[in-house]
Amino acid sequence: MEETIDQIHAKAISELDAAADIQAVTALSVKYLGRKGEVTRFLRNISRYRPEERAAIGKRANQVKQELERSFKDVAERLEHTGAAKKERIDVTLPGRPAGHGTLHPITRITEEICDIFSRLGFDIAEGPEVELDYYNFEALNIPKNHPARDMQDTFYISENIVLRTHTSPVQIRTMEKQPPPVRVIAPGKVYRCDSDLTHTPMFHQVEGLLVDEGISFGDLKGVLTTFVHQMFDPHTSLRFRPSFFPFTEPSAEVDILCVMCRGSGCRVCSNSGWLEILGSGMVHPALYENVGYDADKYTGFAFGMGVERIAMLKYGIDDIRKFFENDARFLRQF
Ligand code: FA5
Ligand code: MG
Repeated sequence: MEETIDQIHAKAISELDAAADIQAVTALSVKYLGRKGEVTRFLRNISRYRPEERAAIGKRANQVKQELERSFKDVAERLEHTGAAKKERIDVTLPGRPAGHGTLHPITRITEEICDIFSRLGFDIAEGPEVELDYYNFEALNIPKNHPARDMQDTFYISENIVLRTHTSPVQIRTMEKQPPPVRVIAPGKVYRCDSDLTHTPMFHQVEGLLVDEGISFGDLKGVLTTFVHQMFDPHTSLRFRPSFFPFTEPSAEVDILCVMCRGSGCRVCSNSGWLEILGSGMVHPALYENVGYDADKYTGFAFGMGVERIAMLKYGIDDIRKFFENDARFLRQF
């Protein structure tokens, strides 16, 4: 003979009386009222009773269901209260729990280190917004709308004229608009691109540099960046200037340093090339001077933009850029 609804009810109540904590009540609620619970199944199989009995039995089963729902809820609430009361009791004899020490994020440390080196070389620090006008991110940098050079940076557009900045170069324009030459600034900050793999993340950090004055040459650019690399890594680090193209510099060069993971023999981090690109650079394009009202005949200058994560990877020997942003404390504590 199968259990009647009242037997199920009685069993549920006695088990509920024995429940010691909220987890137990939750488990009972599933056992009786869940999708495969006993009361649910009972109701689902009501057709096994004779038609003339069904109405009465069904009604009783629904009553039981409601009563159980209420009882489970009451007991859960009561247990929650007594649980909270228990937690509030303070044992003054327990030794204190030491607060864990935080550390600076490796990207923050490297950014500070980069800024320190350039500060010693006489650069000031400038800042600009991360949500940027298309004008500053592209147009004023000699990248007109619909120009193929926009393909170099896969952009998150907020609207037709507003973007998440794809690089820190817009700070060049903002700085020059605000002051006459000479200019000597670096601009650290977050930038965004639709990009993701071993060496690219959608949000990353750059440090921009800009120096404009009378008589500045490519030799100054090489000197400053070589000094930087030698201070950042060690005085024997190999670096190379590789011809490149940016619409806002002419001529342009990218700087690679010898891959520290494989020392140049080729590995997955450097895509088997032995070198890792750390920055883009070049002589400021005269079109930019026109956009900010500088005298292009009188002034020349250089600019560069470096990837902070890349430098951190090289410095600490990290083979996957995404580790910086997973926030695994065991990883972050090492620095
Ligand atoms: C630029 O962003 C230029 N604005 C740099 C520049 C400034 C050139 C001033 C001339 C004058 P590029 O797209 O190559 O260039 O990026 C510069 C550096 O950012 C790269 O060398 C690389 O180190 C880093 N980088 C680029 N994309 C990513 C990414 N998705 N994740 C992490 N680092 C990146
Ligand atoms: Mg590049």
